[in-house]
Amino acid sequence: MQLPQIRPIRFHHAQNLDSLASDLLVVVVDENDIKDGKIQSQSLANLDATLKGTISELVGLKDFEGKWLQSTVSLCSEKSIAKRLLLIGAGLKNNYLPARARQIGLTLTEQVSKLKAYKVAIACVSPLFQSDENMAQLALGARVGAYSYPAFSPSEKSKAEKEIPLEFVLVHSSTALVEQLKTTDTLARAIETCRLLQDGPPNIVTPKYVAECMTEKAKALGLSVTVMGAQKLREIGFNAMMAVGGGSAQEPQFVVIEYKPQSFKKTVAFVGKGLTMDTGGYSIKTPATYQEGMKYDMSGAAVTLSSVLAIAELGLPVRVFGIAALCENMIDAHAYRVGDVIKGYSGKSIEIYNTDAEGRVVLSDALSYTARELKPDCIVEYSTLTGAMIISLGRVGAGLFAFDESLGKTILEASESTGERMWPMPTWEEIGEDVKGTMTDLKNLGAPGQAGSIAAAMFLKEFVDNVPFAHIDIAGVADGNMCIGYPRKVSAGYGIQLTVDIARKFS
Ligand code: BES
Ligand code: ZN
Ligand code: ZN
Repeated sequence: MQLPQIRPIRFHHAQNLDSLASDLLVVVVDENDIKDGKIQSQSLANLDATLKGTISELVGLKDFEGKWLQSTVSLCSEKSIAKRLLLIGAGLKNNYLPARARQIGLTLTEQVSKLKAYKVAIACVSPLFQSDENMAQLALGARVGAYSYPAFSPSEKSKAEKEIPLEFVLVHSSTALVEQLKTTDTLARAIETCRLLQDGPPNIVTPKYVAECMTEKAKALGLSVTVMGAQKLREIGFNAMMAVGGGSAQEPQFVVIEYKPQSFKKTVAFVGKGLTMDTGGYSIKTPATYQEGMKYDMSGAAVTLSSVLAIAELGLPVRVFGIAALCENMIDAHAYRVGDVIKGYSGKSIEIYNTDAEGRVVLSDALSYTARELKPDCIVEYSTLTGAMIISLGRVGAGLFAFDESLGKTILEASESTGERMWPMPTWEEIGEDVKGTMTDLKNLGAPGQAGSIAAAMFLKEFVDNVPFAHIDIAGVADGNMCIGYPRKVSAGYGIQLTVDIARKFS
């Protein structure tokens, strides 16, 4: 099984603009470069000279002042190296730098798609882009912006258009950027893999599909892969995951991809919730519009499995497990019920109060297995776990529930340096009391209407024994992410850069 092909995109590097022909030249400029309709900086003036005055004309008309994401397109004069010019404003702000750099890349690809340009040169005047890293983030943003899920019945014309490779040439004086772009390419491919898994419809992206596509990719990199299906999972006592997957015609799959370099100091396990569809089960999501977007309930799994590929490709000296608990929450005679009591891999008993709080039930087996069998130095887990997370933080950042101070600090640092935004949430014991059962160890629901995301986190904590653990609730940001640096209204691939950076911090 293979993921669909997306439009090929290539990145090149050129040290200067001399004789670099393009359909479109993008120039990124910040507010300091322009004042009162005049060009202020030498580098912008030089570019203007190369373009035979097109920039100064636009600036003189006050069409463009370099404000954040302001843009204007113009035809270039005859015999100019570029057919068209696109000016994009970088503003003046310098907070959230990686995300801002990505956002400029996203904004410019929007324009590129509208203009049907195929060869795009990008020159940045703004000092923000003197660093290779920000330049690479811009390139990543451009690539993320160019992604679209391959349509099912494309007209021949649009199909042909999509097959023409999109070429970006980054004009930058640094030759070190070339190396940086290789890392960007690895990250971009992992993000694309993640998003192809996320966006695929749930009748195609089944637990088996995810397991097979990712096994193929992992094996191609020489990684070891373990996939356990229903029979094996029943045998080893994954009763919680089997209960949730019980109502589905699709067989649950538990996937472990291991990357073990020759030398490493630490082992990190990344665990992901992989509900390829969450209808809610018998506690069905009502109104049915709440079921929309629930194909994205496997985003945690898409992140952990795709990230380990990137970590392996980058050859980081850290041992990493990418783990996915994949199943589907459906209704039929075999589906689990409200009132059922389940004793899963951990041996702790769980009473089901709501079949829609299935993520924590599935993860109880996955976390317990990871802690006991794989014995990592820490576990970082991603899940679209609670709607309450969206109430708390909107769609602008994930919630971080760290049960280990030093691990929490490492994750927040990774968040800061990658611009994958999150916010620390409390892990209060009192809320942990709300998920304690009366006739069982635990129940899968906290106090109604109270701190739903924290209650879910406290439930998960019960299954990691003493392994340092952090839970990241990505319900708001896996799709429909509204933070700068992410594409709007679609899968976001949120978490790939973060995961790679966390792994890097353990190397
Ligand atoms: N997958 C959902 C959480 C979710 C909701 C993710 C909206 C993204 C957008 C999860 O399985 C769920 O249904 N959680 C319930 C828990 C409740 C029954 C305690 C919720 O959040 O409503
Ligand atoms: Zn649910
Ligand atoms: Zn769910």
